[in-house]
Amino acid sequence: MLCLGIETSCDETAVALCRDGRPVLEKLASQVDVHALFGGVVPELASREHLRRMGPLLGALFAESGLGLAEVDAIAVARGPGLLGSLLIGLAAAKGLALAAGKPLVGVDHLHAHLLAATIGRDDAAYPALGLLVSGGHTQLTLLRSPLSLTTLGRTLDDAAGEAFDKAAKSLNLPYPGGVYLDVLGRGIEADRRLFPRPYLDNRNLDFSFSGLKTAVAAFVAGRPHLRQAVMPDATGPIEAEAWPLELRRVCAAVNFAIADTLRVKVERALAGPASGAVSLLAAGGVAANSRIRDMLAGVARRHGLPLFLPPPALCADNATMIAAAGCRLAAAGLFHDLGLDAVPRGRKVPWDYRPVAPARCAG
Ligand code: KG4
Ligand code: ZN
Repeated sequence: MLCLGIETSCDETAVALCRDGRPVLEKLASQVDVHALFGGVVPELASREHLRRMGPLLGALFAESGLGLAEVDAIAVARGPGLLGSLLIGLAAAKGLALAAGKPLVGVDHLHAHLLAATIGRDDAAYPALGLLVSGGHTQLTLLRSPLSLTTLGRTLDDAAGEAFDKAAKSLNLPYPGGVYLDVLGRGIEADRRLFPRPYLDNRNLDFSFSGLKTAVAAFVAGRPHLRQAVMPDATGPIEAEAWPLELRRVCAAVNFAIADTLRVKVERALAGPASGAVSLLAAGGVAANSRIRDMLAGVARRHGLPLFLPPPALCADNATMIAAAGCRLAAAGLFHDLGLDAVPRGRKVPWDYRPVAPARCAG
């Protein structure tokens, strides 16, 4: 099963091929440089960049892989949740290819694909699994009874973990996107565990709320304006942690701790509750690249005697390999969409509306 995956839900334009769930090749164009000027993703610009980059990326994917559209068995596309205008570019590309080549179309839930990315290339995945999804737009705990049977156990009520990182970074005047700066600057520094609150733990549920942490960091920095005055280095080069003031790095370490430990408490609560039957732990999404969170998860897995599945950093962030890999699974199970497939905007749940359909063909 050779599957083409297309990802355009936010600010990465990506296309990839997977064979039987294993990566063949990916071509990805990040738009970070476009949006960095504005300190966040500008939806209109994102759509236009996807449109500009999609054709050349597809051309390069087929040229470099030596494979052709005729050899593809299914075309998978991220249908949401995401920026509506951006998703429509990916859907239009996928539908055009499906129609022209007479290939079946598979709409993929971006969040489902993130979670399955944890087990790409692994033959030892075990279910039921507890999945932690931590990205720029979502923070969720999910019980996976199998790769295709998911139940959400808890979700964020306001900011996602990635937003908490990015907003804390903005308060500290760190370059956009700030999550990776907080991670790298805080590495190897003993965190002051009392500096910031671990938000929304004083309850019995599995939901998250990170907006209070954002406010706490902003208030802390407001009283120490010099923290915002570290000279901004070349944001395109590697992050040299030693070049930054130690006081700022201590703040970064404390933010990392507050987010990682909040996630830890809810993961352990899930393992003691509705996910007590889980035989493995997996985590995914851009924030799963965070070193303190990866260490935290390794500790939880060890204490509970569970195998831990974490994607390599490149498969944590948005990518098309995860869409193609999820597409392989769905297509192999006979789950497809017709050309009426619609996009699902941010904040809405992606319906499980797959059905077996014959590929559409271009007349003549
Ligand atoms: O999954 P993703 O690439 O896009 C969404 O679907 O949202 O996640 C992007 C988020 C951003 O908030 C970014 O700052 C954060 O992941 N992120 C990190 C790290 N790398 C990316 N946050 C903390 N530590 C990192 N190393
Ligand atoms: Zn994502």
